[in-house]
Amino acid sequence: MAKKVTFDYWKHLYSRRTREMVSSEIRDLLSLSAREDIISFSGGLPEVRALNYQKLEKYIKRSLKTDGDITLQYGDSNGYYPLRTRLIEVMALEGIKIDEEDIIITTGGQQALDLLAKVFIDSGDYIITEAPTYTGALNAFKAYEAKIAGISSDKDGIIVSEVEKKLKYFYDNNKIVKFIYLVPNFSNPSGFTLSMARRKELLKIVKKYNTVIIEDNPYGMLRYEGRPVPSIKEMDINGDNKSVIYISTLSKLFAPGFRIGWIVAPHLIIEKLILGVQSSVLCSSSFSQRIAYEYFSDPSWKDNITEFIKIYHKRRNAMLQALEENLSGIATWSKPEGGFFIWLKVPHYINTRDMLADAVGRKVAFVPGTGFYSDGRGKDAARLAFCTETSENIKKGIKILSEIIKEKIKLYESFPR
Ligand SMILES: Cc1ncc(COP(=O)(O)O)c(C=O)c1O
Repeated sequence: MAKKVTFDYWKHLYSRRTREMVSSEIRDLLSLSAREDIISFSGGLPEVRALNYQKLEKYIKRSLKTDGDITLQYGDSNGYYPLRTRLIEVMALEGIKIDEEDIIITTGGQQALDLLAKVFIDSGDYIITEAPTYTGALNAFKAYEAKIAGISSDKDGIIVSEVEKKLKYFYDNNKIVKFIYLVPNFSNPSGFTLSMARRKELLKIVKKYNTVIIEDNPYGMLRYEGRPVPSIKEMDINGDNKSVIYISTLSKLFAPGFRIGWIVAPHLIIEKLILGVQSSVLCSSSFSQRIAYEYFSDPSWKDNITEFIKIYHKRRNAMLQALEENLSGIATWSKPEGGFFIWLKVPHYINTRDMLADAVGRKVAFVPGTGFYSDGRGKDAARLAFCTETSENIKKGIKILSEIIKEKIKLYESFPR
């Protein structure tokens, strides 16, 4: 067996950017969630067991039988054309109408973020994100050494007046903001949705300051109540179509194992992104794309979305009810109309990282809030994913978390002040 080197012998050789590349707390915790005895509110794992595996088998067989040379061969760097047309149909259901040349298929939404960072960010460039925001996006942007300004959000999404102040500040100091990154629908991690009024306002100021929005929308179709809000991309297409780059993924609408995402942007940006794909993966998996094409060619994919919505809606309700029963008056939490996540705020003197150790000891996992900020905020917050566990487990898990919170409060109150 090879000898294990226990000190980092290669430290002097690594690139500077690796210093910014820290392991995602979510991924680390995913290894915990995989343990059967843990009630996991950590990873946003979709309920893939609700898919019809027999149908998938049929799609795989058909792909190999009728199009083996496409399924197993290298493909176009901008993605398998027939799948691009299907994805355009999927987006049209959310009101986004685009041409085939304005879309590129990527290896998951995560590669979409990496590619956009590669195309737009030079070391030391400024970008703006919601705070809190998706850890995977922060990691992708940090890997290209972006300087990140995190703007707070409330139940109506990012606070646009604060975005404007920040843009003005950068403008007055001759600094360009490369983009503003947002998850406007049922945000990861907060569950907040950006209001229509704020979408309009944001689009206006982005044009004024000559930058772009990256609208990341993995969860928009998973709405459990309330009325859909038009995407910012749709609003931009109806205007001059210069200010919004749109990302989505099949990870939550179909299955993350396929690793299929996509980017919609004006074709000049798509051309740059194609170069980015060619220098990283050449093309996304032809195999995955051909099977996904079969899946989205069968109209029953919409029934699967209905089934997903039914499952997650029930779980969201179970979590909201359990929080109400156990933590009312003690903590606060978001009430998402869709998506996978609830954002829990505990009293300011409780550090959710410390809470996690206790929780894991009692077989419950969640993600502490600090992982979703680039500036150390979020100590008194936690992301609770309701998508994975059954309603019974959600009830049990929230009860355990609330007991831990109550113990921490008791301890704090016992200190003389
Ligand atoms: C907001 C957001 N963007 C992107 C991704 C990455 O998605 P994918 O699994 O397609 O890489 C996720 C995954 O959870 C996400 O929540």
